[in-house]
Amino acid sequence: MKLLAISDLHLNSTANMQALTELPAFPDDWLVVAGDIAESPDRFREGLELLRDRFAKVIWAPGNHDLWTVPGPLGRGQQKYEAFVELARAVGVITPEDPYAVWTGSGEPSVVVPTFLLYDYSFRPDDVPLGKVIEWARAERAVCGDELLLDPAPFASRSEWCHHRCCATELRLEELGIEVPKIIVNHYPLRRDLVHLPRIPRFSPWCGTVLTENWHTRFNVRVAVSGHLHVRRTDWRDGTRFEEVSLGYPWQWDERRGIAAYLRDISP
Ligand SMILES: [Fe+2]
Ligand SMILES: [Fe+2]
Repeated sequence: MKLLAISDLHLNSTANMQALTELPAFPDDWLVVAGDIAESPDRFREGLELLRDRFAKVIWAPGNHDLWTVPGPLGRGQQKYEAFVELARAVGVITPEDPYAVWTGSGEPSVVVPTFLLYDYSFRPDDVPLGKVIEWARAERAVCGDELLLDPAPFASRSEWCHHRCCATELRLEELGIEVPKIIVNHYPLRRDLVHLPRIPRFSPWCGTVLTENWHTRFNVRVAVSGHLHVRRTDWRDGTRFEEVSLGYPWQWDERRGIAAYLRDISP
């Protein structure tokens, strides 16, 4: 029984969707999906159904693309998040709003914590003021579609939404207690020094928040899973394993290997 992870399936891409239909079943294993499944509700639900049929349990944390505003009745911002939570629940997938599942398969028993923490532009150089961060990024051609498509409503900004999410999640983590080993699943890396973007270094402001810098030691996190960067890697900090598990857009992975080759074993 293995705990597997992937993220950034980007199923609005036809090639990625086709590849997912060809994924074999792993009936004993759990899968955590660290966001960016699809913008559109139909693709999102279809993708989660395919995954649910192939794994014993599926746990989802949202990515920015899942929250992008699309035409249709689902609304924007917090409303779209809640709508996707309901879609996930309807197909039997665990969301950040549900009780945490406890992993008791291979490795140490651990609580699996899917989170939705967002970003607050604090992953920027200290000498760049917040008000200049977009301009600073654009100077080296880094732009993020979120500026147009990820509405923070009813919050005044994505930063404010991020801070609200971090506070609420901290309370739940504190309730679990420090002694409980945890696996955190978040679309974004928890630390600024984990942002590796060799092609677009100035994309970092859209990649997380310094508020979570010490969560791995503060909350006894054994493995922290993230995506978003589309740069797969493994890092270690203070004994915690950090796994970036993106699949990415079709040109960022090898279709001949199939999606199964990109499932990362994250058993603690
Ligand atoms: Fe992505
Ligand atoms: Fe993303």
